[in-house]
Amino acid sequence: MFGLLGPNGAGKTTTVRILTTLLTPDAGKATVAGFDVVKDARPLRSHIGASGQYSAVDEHLTGAENLEMIGRLYHLGARRSRQRARELLERFDLAEAGDRPVKGYSGGMRRRIDLAGALVVDPPVLFLDEPTTGLDPRARAGLWDVITELVVGGTTLLLTTQYMEEADQLADQIAVVDHGRVIARGTADQLKDQIGGDRIELAVGDIQTDAGALQVTVPVTNGAASLADALARLSSAEVTVRDVGLRRPTLDDVFLGLTGHEAETTTSQDVDIEDTDNTVLAKEYSR
Ligand SMILES: Nc1ncnc2c1ncn2[C@@H]1O[C@H](COP(=O)(O)OP(=O)(O)O)[C@@H](O)[C@H]1O
Ligand SMILES: [Mg+2]
Repeated sequence: MFGLLGPNGAGKTTTVRILTTLLTPDAGKATVAGFDVVKDARPLRSHIGASGQYSAVDEHLTGAENLEMIGRLYHLGARRSRQRARELLERFDLAEAGDRPVKGYSGGMRRRIDLAGALVVDPPVLFLDEPTTGLDPRARAGLWDVITELVVGGTTLLLTTQYMEEADQLADQIAVVDHGRVIARGTADQLKDQIGGDRIELAVGDIQTDAGALQVTVPVTNGAASLADALARLSSAEVTVRDVGLRRPTLDDVFLGLTGHEAETTTSQDVDIEDTDNTVLAKEYSR
């Protein structure tokens, strides 16, 4: 699992669209599963699946119909498409909802049906563009489980995200992108070490009288040990600690550390797209 981490507008979707043959690059060269994304675009399409940032399903069709349509576009045949749709609905815990129109689905269900759509032809390489943006924590955790299962099952995955926590949880390798360029690359631990690991947040002094009231955030490399050490020293110096916490670095910390500016993240976006990445990919492939 490769994580592409960056704020809104960094170039994550553009990268995914180039790697999935939906956009032709002006320059440069990229290969996916050994296929050149420009020269071998057509054969490449049967080796990849993509699930976009914006739900790539037809609202008016049921979950099952959406999956069957994708199967038909990939020439799986009517019977195989129907069978595959049922398998995927079962796997994504949508068996019951499968016969209802997608417009009644929750955000988490939409992402699951969208992801199922990307898996209709069981591709060895899968691209997930911000699969959890805008989801509540429970739906996000559910999707993380599904994604982890795919990777355990041997799928190669490229995931884009605005959340450090997500890249940290899921990705083996992470590239941080800003303004169209990779500004750092490594494992989550390597990136955190580079920007100073965890953060200790401390509030000291009397907030009522404001006497010596102070709030500080300190990056540390060895979180728990540093926290114990800091508390021991504050105690021996007779400083009253009002509040203390240890937190993982956020995307903002990564960006502040690497670029000196904060990342502009968003949690939801309104974008109208006529065709969905899944159907575009399948139609392009069929041509
Ligand atoms: N086809 C295009 N031609 C030129 N600029 C584009 C095109 N598509 C997107 N952009 C711009 O490229 C930048 C990166 O966009 P995008 O890849 O969508 O970022 P992200 O997915 O990381 O939020 C944005 O400033 C966007 O407006
Ligand atoms: Mg994007």
